[in-house]
Amino acid sequence: MMSEEMPLFVPTLNKQGYAAPYLDPFSLKFTEYAEGQFLEIGAAFGYATMQALSNGAKVIANDMDERHLQYIEEAADKYGYKEVQTIVAEFAKDLSFPEKSFRKILISRVLHFFTGEKIKQSLKQVYDWLEPNGELYVVCETTFLTNWQTFIPEYQKRKEEGRPFPGEIDDPRNWEQNWSDNLPDFVHWLDIEPLVALFEEAGFEVVEVDYINRNGQFPESLLLDGRESVGIIGRRPK
Ligand SMILES: C[S@@+](CC[C@H](N)C(=O)[O-])C[C@H]1O[C@@H](n2cnc3c(N)ncnc32)[C@H](O)[C@@H]1O
Repeated sequence: MMSEEMPLFVPTLNKQGYAAPYLDPFSLKFTEYAEGQFLEIGAAFGYATMQALSNGAKVIANDMDERHLQYIEEAADKYGYKEVQTIVAEFAKDLSFPEKSFRKILISRVLHFFTGEKIKQSLKQVYDWLEPNGELYVVCETTFLTNWQTFIPEYQKRKEEGRPFPGEIDDPRNWEQNWSDNLPDFVHWLDIEPLVALFEEAGFEVVEVDYINRNGQFPESLLLDGRESVGIIGRRPK
């Protein structure tokens, strides 16, 4: 689905960070075939969507930028994948589905643009969209990247103060000057504890949660200590 010459980071067309063509283990699990309908939210150029389609899944790909979805439609056409639909909408406010519509939902590297409060509301919505036993896969960035090292002491301090979302950052360009040109004005670096708390509050059973070592997936200059991202899988109980 992807030529070997793909760069590690592809800039999104709407300053929403970079899409990562080489999938992490959580996104890869999402792409494994299962009966039922899949949904990818914030799919960008659809690297996970295309992999799921190649495994025989039926996928709805969402993004807030229509140009990304056009790219997915063209790529799906090229490979002859018919079981794909695209929906342009801003999640969560403009996206709606009937209850219990999906077997699997992936939100990779999108929720770290939301405040903690907004993540809370969004997860409740996504929970309703899943079938019983359906699974939500979420991947977010942490602060443990070389270009965000200056924020780590502040992050630790906020954690010690007991703040529920110590990674919320209103002024990303004050902390990072190399890659933040392609970032929105607010970012929210996450971690295992806040994600588990958010998932449990929304009613999910946490199936798996771990840091993601981005070696081979992110540019080498960004790699810090194997905790560059965090992934979580939650299941809607019956
Ligand atoms: C950093 S990229 C991540 C792309 C891909 N999921 C990945 O993991 O590489 C974020 C993508 O999510 C989209 N996005 C951001 N916020 C969104 C929202 N509220 N609703 C829908 N799409 C959103 C952006 O347009 C962009 O394509």
